[in-house]
Order: sequence, then structure tokens, then C-alpha cells
Amino acid sequence: ESTLGAAAAQSGRYFGTAIASGKLGDSAYTTIANREFNMVTAENEMKIDATEPNRGQFNFSAGDRVYNWAVQNGKRVRGHTLAWHNQQPGWMQQLSGSTLRQAMINHINGVMNHYKGKIYAWDVVNEAYADGNSGGRRDSNLQRTGNDWIEVAFRTARAADPAAKLCYNDYNIDNWSWAKTQGVYNMVRDFKSRGVPIDCVGLQSHFNGNSPYNSNYRTTIQSFAALGVDVQITELDIQGGSATTYANVVNDCLAVPRCTGITVWGVRDTDSWLGSGASALLFDGNGNKKAAYTAVLNALNGG
Ligand code: G3I
Repeated sequence: ESTLGAAAAQSGRYFGTAIASGKLGDSAYTTIANREFNMVTAENEMKIDATEPNRGQFNFSAGDRVYNWAVQNGKRVRGHTLAWHNQQPGWMQQLSGSTLRQAMINHINGVMNHYKGKIYAWDVVNEAYADGNSGGRRDSNLQRTGNDWIEVAFRTARAADPAAKLCYNDYNIDNWSWAKTQGVYNMVRDFKSRGVPIDCVGLQSHFNGNSPYNSNYRTTIQSFAALGVDVQITELDIQGGSATTYANVVNDCLAVPRCTGITVWGVRDTDSWLGSGASALLFDGNGNKKAAYTAVLNALNGG
């Protein structure tokens, strides 16, 4: 196959990208995005600050622009994200305790109801674990509402849209030997053992010098999958753009049946949150295919 999406589909997987609504008028951008990818994540437009800028007043205009572009072009959509310490609107940042807990529940219900039946998978909770060696939760206003806030979010999400897969999504949980990975693994194991609804783990997979790709990545994917959840690579980018590392990531996903798809976090290097100098994506700023693109396509094609 000659595109990433079609090549991934040969094994029943998808290949996606983050889409920014502000770039949908750029035909160079949309031409590549439409040709190569069959799954879309809104880079910012379905986050809490975008969808509920004022308490109880939802705004889906930008999220719907991304959603409609995707669906009109035959793509599925991952929802990102419902409960997160970052990109909270000002009103939410100021809440605490049971008021914040109820606001989180209302937010999940409001957003998931709008997109009910339309989303392949939601990142229900994003980045709730701490960096460093503790393996524990990140301190945040949500965490301070009580340690059960994550399972409350997942139970709320299941009831709001039973058709959507429900994911826990995080960065630096790619390396199996890291405490943060083990912390999330233990949470998912606990959720599965107690019947808390969770269907997938999102490995963001932002690789750089401080958190490089490690060959135990396949062990991480296999270990999560063995708990009975899908694994999705949700925000892949690799600083420096190593073609070999990109191929390794793809081959590690292909080696695990429950690794169901890969999303790169942007189309061209100029679209990356890291800036074009990081050279972290599959297309250069002129829209040319990079060596990393060819490596990914070849891996998806079985070579
Ligand atoms: O929308 C405003 C615009 O009105 C204003 O003029 C401009 C001035 O700086 O800022 C714009 O907002 C920016 C927004 O991106 C849209 O471009 C924010 O400042 C900026 O912080 C925001 O960055 C996003 C970042 O998440 C924020 O947390 C990145 O685009 C986005 O790629 C990044 O994505 C995250 C995932 O959601 C979660 N995992 C990590 C990943 C990378 O950080």
C-alpha cells in the first residue's frame, strides 16, 4: 500500500494524526492529512478549556470543525481529553473538593453527550501520574478531590457513551523499567480486577533525549495488552526524526495484536508543538516525505 492509513489497515489497524482546526484552510496541510491518515485527534479543540470555557456553557465550534473534517473525509476520531490538570479553563482551576468533582462529572457528561456514538476512543483521563521515581499520582486539583477521581471519571464516561472505548493516556509510560509506567500498569490492573470500566491505554510516546525510545517498549505494549486492554500509540513524535526509531515503534506495535493503532502528533515538522527544528514528524515543512515516513510505510507493509 502507498499511504500510511491503507498500509496500517492491512492488519486492521489505523494510522492517525493530530489535526489543528486553524490549519484546515491550508490546502498543503489538508492534502497530506487527507491522503495519509484514517484517524484524527483534535490537537486542542476538544480539551476542557475549549469545550467548556464558562462553567456549564459548552462550546463545540472548534471541536466540531475538526470532527466534521475528519468524518467528511472518511476518518474516525479519537476524543482528547476529558479530565486533565492542564488546559483547564480559569473557572475550573479555581475549584476544589466536591465542587470540582461535580464539575468534572458534568464536563464529561456534557462533552460525551455531544459526541455520543461518534468517537472511536476517548482519552478520559490524561497525564494523572507523576514524573520521577515515585510511581504515584501527580499532585493536581483533581487529585486533591480524592484518589478515586480517576475511576469516577471512567464510570461517568461509560454511562455517558457506552459505544466509545475509554482510554487512560500519558507520556513517559513507554519505558517498562520506569516507575511511572509501573504506577499506571498497577492502576490498570487494579481497575480490571475491580470492574472499573477501562478499554485502552494510550502511550503518548513523545520520544526525546531525556525519554528516548527503549527496546523494552514492546514489553510495555505486551504487558498492558495482557491486562485485557487495547494499547494505542496516541501522540507519537521522535526528536531528530530517526527513521530507525520510527520503524522500531511501528514494528513493536505490529508485534502485539491488541496494539490497535498509531497516531503521530502532527502532519509536518512545521505543525509540531516541538517546532520545526525538532524534525520530529514524518513530513518536512514543505510537505515532502522524510526518511522516517518511508521507514514507517515499509514497516506497515511488512518489510
Ligand atoms: O489559542 C491560543 C491563541 O489564541 C493565542 O494567540 C496563542 C498565543 O500563544 O496561544 C494559543 O493557544 C496555544 C494552543 O496550543 C493552540 O495553539 C497554547 O498557548 C499552547 O499552550 C497550546 O499548546 C498545546 C499543548 O498541548 C498545551 O498543553 C499544543 O498545541 C498541543 O500539541 C499539546 O498537546 C499535548 C497533548 O494535548 C497532551 N500530551 C502532550 C502534548 C504535547 O504537549
